[in-house]
Amino acid sequence: MSKVLIRAMVLPMTGADMFYPQGEIAIENDRILAVGERGSAPSGFVPDRTLDLPNDLVMPGLINTHTHAAMTLLRSYADDLPLMPWLKEKVWPFEDKLTEEDIYWGTALALCEMIRSGTTTMLDMYVAMDQVAEAVLKAGTRAVLSRGLIGNGPNGESAFQEGCDLVRRYHGAGKGRINVMFGPHAPYTCSGEYLQKVKAEADRLGVGIHIHVAETQDEINILREQYGKTPVQWLDELGLFGGHVVAAHCVHLTQEDMEILARRHVCVAHNAESNMKLNSGTAPITELRAKGVVIGLGTDGASSNNNLDLFGEMRSAAFQQKLQVDSTVLPAYEVLEMATVGGAQTLGLEDVGMLAPGFKADLITIDMDQPHFYPRFSIPAHLVYVAHAGDVRTVMVDGKFLMEERKLLTMDVSEVCKEAETRAKRIAEELKG
Ligand code: NI
Repeated sequence: MSKVLIRAMVLPMTGADMFYPQGEIAIENDRILAVGERGSAPSGFVPDRTLDLPNDLVMPGLINTHTHAAMTLLRSYADDLPLMPWLKEKVWPFEDKLTEEDIYWGTALALCEMIRSGTTTMLDMYVAMDQVAEAVLKAGTRAVLSRGLIGNGPNGESAFQEGCDLVRRYHGAGKGRINVMFGPHAPYTCSGEYLQKVKAEADRLGVGIHIHVAETQDEINILREQYGKTPVQWLDELGLFGGHVVAAHCVHLTQEDMEILARRHVCVAHNAESNMKLNSGTAPITELRAKGVVIGLGTDGASSNNNLDLFGEMRSAAFQQKLQVDSTVLPAYEVLEMATVGGAQTLGLEDVGMLAPGFKADLITIDMDQPHFYPRFSIPAHLVYVAHAGDVRTVMVDGKFLMEERKLLTMDVSEVCKEAETRAKRIAEELKG
């Protein structure tokens, strides 16, 4: 039995006017027992540990709904190029050289960065996902993992088998910290038949689907030529949208596409910074939200961002919509919702994303006693327009501290950085030769 009491400002994300300037949160084992003003903990609750952090703000851990974690090894390796040369001449040849161990260390690097920037859960899509799962188990974070499937590639069939194995081995692992989905890459890299096979298996195993949809204008053109439809209409016709689906990007959508996504309860992972950096376009987030589509925020891989900082992503997502639509859209609290509650809904996780009794104790504290947080007119505005990764002081997942006073407790950061540096440079050298 472990009991922890944290006394701090509390932003529970249970409603726009819910805020406890002198609050407390009581945690028993992996779950939240009570949240509220001082004295909310039930009588008889005797904590093993009390954290008095009157100048910190406690909020739910942030949720990254679309990433390729091990791509940290490609961080700032290739930038400022048009999309296709970037992929064909730089990213894919580098990825071809990655060993399973490289993927472990690339993911470990991503997880160190995520913990230090307040991200407690990610939805990942990559290869060698057993390595990713092991890194997550070591780091202590929460994750939903999907084996990326290029149906049209030479490994389409073996990748599908690996996707099935991943579900068997890791769905529910780490006392439920890991969940698994299928990860068919995109409608232009998988045939209709392949997508239907994946969908049937996902339904049989009771897991969801994570797929890139309508990311670029090129994709729209390819699908129109091949099938005479938009990606969303094509996937709907294939029956892919019947269950839990996370559609990453959704930049280029028609009105009909948006209605299909809403009607089919497809969740959207919005990647504002990646979409800007790769010149993909601006996703119609304001319209999607108005239609009731659930939206989470994602960073995408570190080669198209180039960090995994969701504080930066919140700010970019807000500013991009304001530039595109008008300055009143996506107020700060709604952006915070996308990074927490919306992220949890997007991933199909029912007991994270908010600080409420019975929810998992996945939380972060932010050091608000810094010049850039004064005066304190609006906490949500501070978190979205002001805060950055380095302001996170404490991270807890499943009731366990992963970081205190900015020191990581589950990972040896210097070892991870050294391994990542050595491995990435080795591949770059091989490619030069
Ligand atoms: Ni992606």
